[in-house]
Amino acid sequence: MEAPLPTVDLATLTSQLRALRDEALPRIAAAPNLAALDDLDLHYLGRKGGALSGLMRGIGSLPVEDRPRVGLVVNDVREAVESALAGARAGAGAAALAARLAAEAVDVTAPARAIPRGTLHPIVETIERISQIFGQFGFVTYEGPEVETDLTNFQMLNIPPDHPARDLWDTMYVDLEGALLRTHTSPGQIRVMQAERPPIRALLPGRCFRYEAIDASHASEFFQVEGLMVDEGTNLADLKGQLVEFAHAMFGEGTTTRFRPGYYPFTEPSVAFDIGCLVCGGSGCPACGRTGWMTILGAGMVHPVVLRHGGIDPERYQGFAFGMGVERIAMLRHGITDIRVFLDNDLRFLEQFR
Ligand code: PHE
Repeated sequence: MEAPLPTVDLATLTSQLRALRDEALPRIAAAPNLAALDDLDLHYLGRKGGALSGLMRGIGSLPVEDRPRVGLVVNDVREAVESALAGARAGAGAAALAARLAAEAVDVTAPARAIPRGTLHPIVETIERISQIFGQFGFVTYEGPEVETDLTNFQMLNIPPDHPARDLWDTMYVDLEGALLRTHTSPGQIRVMQAERPPIRALLPGRCFRYEAIDASHASEFFQVEGLMVDEGTNLADLKGQLVEFAHAMFGEGTTTRFRPGYYPFTEPSVAFDIGCLVCGGSGCPACGRTGWMTILGAGMVHPVVLRHGGIDPERYQGFAFGMGVERIAMLRHGITDIRVFLDNDLRFLEQFR
């Protein structure tokens, strides 16, 4: 139902309109934000319930000749309120933008936060260095499995069941059928010989396992790098030459070296390869057991029986092989005295190898 039209005269309506304007302008000027301006807009200029619309309903009760005069006043008031709202909105928008820019400011000159980077484990890094040195001699890297069998870990390497040399390798068995965790990387020799034809220059890095009492120099899992060269006319001088070159590249040109007789069932003759103690320089200290020397690997000429197991004719080809403990090399390079740190995964230790 329409409300009855109010009856007013020209003077009253005109002064009501001006009063509305005089009330609206300071309120608009004081509005704190855009939402408050929207509310005032609706309150004064809203088409349905707005204050201006309310007053305009009185026009109908004025004499016809007065109406255009009131219309002029209405337009003046409307324009004054509209332009005040527009000006205030522009100001509030700019203020809101300025506040947002200040709150979201990014200091593009601030130094970036450091992203923590991982590091290579010193054992991995040492294997990479060994591979790099022998790579220059033409050696190619292969990998054998960690689970081998009595056949491949021992018998093919000229170590029959019940051979006394088995005492050299305290073995962890996987089952009763002969599967075991390889005690050295030497079974890889057989695998490479069976897969390739001479000339062969192979490097076989890998994890090995032994049933050991663990202390500062013994771990039950550790890494070896096996080397194998097979060709016509290969002899002990080739072995000696490459190992001395390796020692100089790994530990420095001034490193002294020596070969001693050794024993392994799969090489004949067998040798142990020593470098002059890196701690005392050869005069004797606790690090070298007061001998002045440190053994870094075992080696020898591949036994003819082992060549034959690899499918290679020992009448035509000869080979040399060596096996080195990676932890030992890494300990010598970095002055580490306890092998257990390699397995602890203590970041305070590992982060030193950047
Ligand atoms: N496999 C031997 C060991 O574990 C090392 C070795 C490898 C010796 C190759 C001679 C030739 O001790």
